[in-house]
Amino acid sequence: MRTITLINGDGIGPEISKSVMDIISASGLEIDWDIQTAGADVIEKEGIPLPERVLESVRRNKIALKAPVTTPIGKGFRSVNVQLRKELDLYANLRPCKNLPNVKTRFENVDIVVVRENTEDLYAGIERRIDDNTAESIKIITRNASERICKFAFDYAAKNGRKEVCCVTKANIMKLSDGLFLETYRNIAQNYPQIKQREILVDNLCMQLVQNPTQFDVLVLPNLYGDIVSDLCAGLIGGLGVAQGANIGTDCAVFEPVHGSAPDIKGLNKANPTALLLSAIEMINFIGEKSYAEKIEKALYKTLEAGICTADLGGSASTTDFTKAIIERL
Ligand code: NAI
Repeated sequence: MRTITLINGDGIGPEISKSVMDIISASGLEIDWDIQTAGADVIEKEGIPLPERVLESVRRNKIALKAPVTTPIGKGFRSVNVQLRKELDLYANLRPCKNLPNVKTRFENVDIVVVRENTEDLYAGIERRIDDNTAESIKIITRNASERICKFAFDYAAKNGRKEVCCVTKANIMKLSDGLFLETYRNIAQNYPQIKQREILVDNLCMQLVQNPTQFDVLVLPNLYGDIVSDLCAGLIGGLGVAQGANIGTDCAVFEPVHGSAPDIKGLNKANPTALLLSAIEMINFIGEKSYAEKIEKALYKTLEAGICTADLGGSASTTDFTKAIIERL
């Protein structure tokens, strides 16, 4: 049996974690969950939101499923999410965005995977105030980081039967930094002749995404464009309740929904577990248990097709009703 870390989060985290554990268990896939608490509630007992035991557990098990964690505002703690990414060097942010049955959106048949570089670019945090009226932020792009993210995108495409990897930059203006990212992409692409190459400027990409998103397959982007475009793509498929994600490094991978801890609906049995479930399905695929991933995905789709969904998607099912309905369809 495989041991996987479960960071069950706070707010709606524990409710949706229970739902997903129940569904996976009912599918027949046996996972020994190493449950680790983190976040606001842990600060009171342990003094910090991300104790070392959590990091040790992920390092040991290599794979984690993570529910959302509240970031306390103004208490001087770094966000658990940012810290996890830094400590475990989770350099690739993966956001598959695929339409779900009965979830109303502007477009049908969207199936885009956004691969965002997670460690550098303008997010390196190198900023200074030069004088009262001027500030600067430095954009760092390195060959090493660009190489590993482009390689990740092509490997993902190859493994998952994807046809194209499109490189997104603004290399016409930032000729050196984005130029290096693009140059690296072109070099890496040569090793994957079976996968189509495409290059696009980020402004054009945004226009195309809101006009005709089905033309895109896998996108690979530097950090800042990736951050913005991945949210745009999440919006294309129905937003927070259904947007899954993963942060992947060389040694460890953490799978997590895009949404936060939704304190406004905590404990009300209203939370939609779909985004965490989709993240878990991606995780199950990642560990090589494809047949279980397909089985759970099918049951989720059948449930949505039957018109059963939570309030955020316009339905009336509670978290537990929705979970039960999926389990019945497994
Ligand atoms: P949020 O995503 O928690 O909530 C925004 C709105 O969407 C709320 O009305 C909420 O009820 C609704 N919502 C979110 N997820 C839902 C779900 N699964 N089912 C039904 N409705 C859902 O964003 P907000 O309020 O800005 O952040 C709350 C806390 O979460 C903050 O402390 C923030 O720092 C943290 N956060 C944590 C993240 C993580 O752990 N990865 C990501 C984003 C925010």
